[in-house]
Amino acid sequence: MEKLLKEELQGTPVSLKGTDANTRKLYIESYGCQMNFSDSEIVAAILTKEGFNTTQQMEEADLILVNTCSIREKAELTVRKRLEKFNAARKVNPGLKVGVLGCMAERLKHKLLEEEKIVDMVVGPDAYKDLPNLVKEVDEGQQAVNVILSKEETYGDVAPVRLGSNGVTAFVSITRGCDNMCTFCVVPFTRGRERSRDPQSILDEVTDLWDRGYKEVTLLGQNVDSYLWYGGGLKKDFSNASAIQQATAVTFSGLLDRVAKAQPGMRIRFSTSNPQDMTLDVIDTMARHPNICNYIHLPVQSGSDTILKAMNRLHTRAEYFELIREIRKRIPDCGISHDMIAGFPGETEADHQQTLSLMEFVKYDFGFMFAYSERPGTLAARKLEDDVPEQVKKRRLQEIIALQQKHSLYRNQQSVGQTTEVLIEGDSKKSDAHWMGRNSQNTVVVFPKLHYKKGEFVNVKIEECTSATLLGNAVSYSENNQ
Ligand code: SAH
Ligand code: F3S
Repeated sequence: MEKLLKEELQGTPVSLKGTDANTRKLYIESYGCQMNFSDSEIVAAILTKEGFNTTQQMEEADLILVNTCSIREKAELTVRKRLEKFNAARKVNPGLKVGVLGCMAERLKHKLLEEEKIVDMVVGPDAYKDLPNLVKEVDEGQQAVNVILSKEETYGDVAPVRLGSNGVTAFVSITRGCDNMCTFCVVPFTRGRERSRDPQSILDEVTDLWDRGYKEVTLLGQNVDSYLWYGGGLKKDFSNASAIQQATAVTFSGLLDRVAKAQPGMRIRFSTSNPQDMTLDVIDTMARHPNICNYIHLPVQSGSDTILKAMNRLHTRAEYFELIREIRKRIPDCGISHDMIAGFPGETEADHQQTLSLMEFVKYDFGFMFAYSERPGTLAARKLEDDVPEQVKKRRLQEIIALQQKHSLYRNQQSVGQTTEVLIEGDSKKSDAHWMGRNSQNTVVVFPKLHYKKGEFVNVKIEECTSATLLGNAVSYSENNQ
């Protein structure tokens, strides 16, 4: 299972209703995390002002942009294959320009121009406001690169153009970068130091989404619980802020509280929570507000204390269990999911068994599970030998996935016979006579449409399930439907 919350959208080109005044065509594809999909909406907003409309036909594009992911080697290989396809399109359309955005652009910088002859433009995640200039340079026949990482940029002042949207759910980014330096992870290098977005601009965006009919927002960041607004600037510089800035700072629980109060009809989710930064007041805030979904994505990566330490995850197995207990105490029906890495350097069979036993304790609702992939430049790549043989990594990963499937089925079976509130997101993938939506715990629910409509909150009685989906029948509107 790859980590993509919108797996079916990976690489799907997106387009929106064009403006007649715009004459140039932009084809944009996104890979990787939700943040990349959200960033592409910022890029589209910036380029719409520069005379571009989006298209789904790469052959007719003037500019192809690919928003890339570096998290595992496989993610980069996928993008390199796509670049070959774009090259073929260039044969039909010689004027075509190609730009690489996102984490691969940041990681490889100028090297990308040399390695991939077809690339005209390389733009890192903090440089999208420079796109108008970069496009001009490319138009003049030059190659253009901007991979400068910023202390300030949060794009809080750019109203995203919603791409490929279902009109019901949207992502709102609240932090950028990450300071955690997990030893396996490339993100701190590709997305820079952690900074938070002005809460007022977040509230304005959420209100605007509500006014346009959206019913659910997911507040996004690599590490949302670390959110801290004290007037702008890097999280690491907070200790240098003035006394008044420190006293009036907004934390993640404060932000959640404000968003939940500002739009009581809007469902609120957030992702991702790093256990070491999640505080009990966040859980209390979730418990206090019915419109904050009972769901936490709480990656743990390993169940072994030795491996957690080598990964620089700053909590132990026992502390993680304590956090799970606190969550279950305050929100008994909270959905919990995870990310897990199999075969980190030095992982023994005993460490792997610890991972399986941790999963047995939590019985996660679902998870995103990966084989360790060494990333150049990370501490693990520099200091630790990637010594778990490939077949062993694969076998451990398979065991983790099989156990997760068992737990997902177990969790879903607990819902059979219960009635759960679902927000309708759109047609079910398998049948257009059925709606697909999610309940508060983020589990997918499928049921016959009847007279209900997309964007409505309905109560669904669950009749049966698979490990991935709950199946049932709508019995009424929920009291949240308005
Ligand atoms: N905090 C981030 C994590 C980003 S990476 C977030 O918002 O999700 C997503 C997941 O990819 C991580 O939790 C980890 O499980 C996995 N991952 C990251 N680096 C990896 C690597 N080098 N090899 C395998 N999996 C990795
Ligand atoms: Fe990566 Fe760890 Fe941050 S997984 S994104 S360094 S919390």
